[in-house]
Amino acid sequence: MSNNAKRTSQEFIELEAKYGAHNYHPLPVVIDRGEGPLVWDVEGKQYYDFLSAYSAVNQGHCHPKIVNALIEQAKKLTLTSRAFYNSTLGDYEKFITEYFGYDKVLPMNTGAEGDETALKLARRWGVVKKGIPNDDVKIICCEGNFHGRTITIVTMSSDPDSYANFGPLTPGFIRIPYNDTEALAKVLEEHGKTTAAFLVEPIQGEAGVFVPDEGYLKKSYELCKKHNVLFIADEVQTGIARTGKLLACDHEGVRPDILILGKALSGGVIPVSCCLADDDIMLTIKPGEHGSTFGGFPLAGKVAVAALEVVKEEKLAERAEYLGKIFRDEMNAFHSPMIELVRGKGLLNAVVIRNQPGKTAWDVCVEMKECGVLAKPTHGNIIRFAPPLVITEAQLRDAIGLIKKAFKKFE
Ligand SMILES: Cc1ncc(COP(=O)(O)O)c(C=O)c1O
Repeated sequence: MSNNAKRTSQEFIELEAKYGAHNYHPLPVVIDRGEGPLVWDVEGKQYYDFLSAYSAVNQGHCHPKIVNALIEQAKKLTLTSRAFYNSTLGDYEKFITEYFGYDKVLPMNTGAEGDETALKLARRWGVVKKGIPNDDVKIICCEGNFHGRTITIVTMSSDPDSYANFGPLTPGFIRIPYNDTEALAKVLEEHGKTTAAFLVEPIQGEAGVFVPDEGYLKKSYELCKKHNVLFIADEVQTGIARTGKLLACDHEGVRPDILILGKALSGGVIPVSCCLADDDIMLTIKPGEHGSTFGGFPLAGKVAVAALEVVKEEKLAERAEYLGKIFRDEMNAFHSPMIELVRGKGLLNAVVIRNQPGKTAWDVCVEMKECGVLAKPTHGNIIRFAPPLVITEAQLRDAIGLIKKAFKKFE
């Protein structure tokens, strides 16, 4: 069992099919090892990873500084729960609040928990600070959103795959079109008094890397302020240098009232997420009213500090900005009957595929895999291209060559 070299990809795929729930449909590749922007399958074939675990591995696979932080802390203390203080949490809290410029942090584990926490904070603030009757509190969300998989979060989704047949959903949400400040203005005119927050992704990643018009975030923020409504940014996928700035909101100089981070907060090493906010919002939740056994555990604190240090030390935002332009320029200049358009920001990009009979985005991804690049379709005909931000220019250009080679098979 321990010697993977003797076992084939097919064996691993069959094992998962037999013993695992069928809630994913992976590309048929079994990854055994990763380093920087590269991964290797169990047969030893090398690939460029152009998904980065949905932008969790921004710092590259197995970044030595982050892995060492994990190992050193794991030898000393891993978990205390929050029943006791520990000698890592305070340092982490000080570091991350200074790093992003907020009064307080509330540590959780997964992105979905980060979003759930933001929703609870907003509802609580709405009741105790804004004075909305408890049963009337509303939160505005957007068509095409993706915030995770809990019952409350899938309530907000406009994708039936996410919410259908999961029984009664959670009340209190209003969904409006994305990238539509008129719709936001209208709903705020109607429901502003009972609305606690507007929850938005600065770029909709899962929906297919939808980049809103310039000014959308700023205008939305101003509308929220006009109606005393919190502006919550879900930067679980867009945050931490992915789009060419530390946060995607930084492109428009918007400072969210509640900022949700996850994924690359740990460089993909362990699940670490959080909400950041100022005291006026954060201190509305009192001891015993929210939490998580692992949230802010010693490993998380050490790993997150290392992961955030790497972002600055290796200038990952600047790299994403520079390399992203190369990717879009190259792909825009390349003509293929399968490519409808290329869009994105920094190293969060997508190619919209013009599906043809018997040739789909999935087929393109399978062909790219053969050529040595891993990516996955989202919403049928869109392929996201989001390599680790540590990829070098030479590696990126090499990978682009392989991507083009795959597309040429469809001419
Ligand atoms: C914007 C956004 N929010 C939340 C999540 C959920 O994160 P997790 O899968 O860690 O729960 C995701 C995951 O893709 C995401 O893209």
